[in-house]
Amino acid sequence: MRVPFIAGNWKMFKTIASAKVFADEFKDLKANKEIKVAICAPYTQLAALVEAFKDTEIGVGAQNVHYEAEGAFTGEISLPMLKEIGVDYCIIGHSERREYFNETDEAVNKKVKMLLEDGSITPILCVGESLEVREAGEEASFVEEQIEKDFAGISADKAGNVVIAYEPVWAIGTGKTATPDQADSMCKTIREKIKALYDESVSESIIIQYGGSVKPANSKEILTMGDIDGALVGGASLKSEDFKGIINF
Ligand code: PGA
Repeated sequence: MRVPFIAGNWKMFKTIASAKVFADEFKDLKANKEIKVAICAPYTQLAALVEAFKDTEIGVGAQNVHYEAEGAFTGEISLPMLKEIGVDYCIIGHSERREYFNETDEAVNKKVKMLLEDGSITPILCVGESLEVREAGEEASFVEEQIEKDFAGISADKAGNVVIAYEPVWAIGTGKTATPDQADSMCKTIREKIKALYDESVSESIIIQYGGSVKPANSKEILTMGDIDGALVGGASLKSEDFKGIINF
């Protein structure tokens, strides 16, 4: 049985002060089912959130990490720095990082490998096709290729520790959600690709989230699909009531 996992992605929103207000409203979360929950916030807010959620089951995640442990990389944050704060998750390869910060599959692969080798922070690896790719009917092969490149050199005993987030770029922040069938079908394709790269025990246990305009009004129809094990939620994770509504779908 895969335990569903719903993570918020705050992107570049909130301040330490407003993150604390959210945490106060959110930390009494009473989930109506067995579920894992986390908030992935900007670096400056992480320590405050770890502190605010310390007596709860709510996890905290970063949104990026550099693949070197230290060095002359102005503006970057390393894994030892995140470990010191005590975060549980780190988003890797979000489409906004791939698009605006030129993050390649090679860099994404290095970051995922580093996190898995260390083992203390779970990577949430984002994949997904653009509208152009979907309109050309090439979405499955595009995402399969991302999976292949992003998992290169990762062994079967570690691969299952990755959380995969399927986020079609055309559905992110656009209000345009993939239909439950479109989302489930790609999550199934990803699971089959993982089976081909590894084996059935990895593919059946790996958590695959859907992301892209998930909100309280559509979370149930998406999250009850067979191959979708949770969600990565942007805009609707910024308000505690909306995020609770998604979690208690
Ligand atoms: P959205 O973002 O829910 O605002 O569409 C999802 C994401 O980018 O992770």
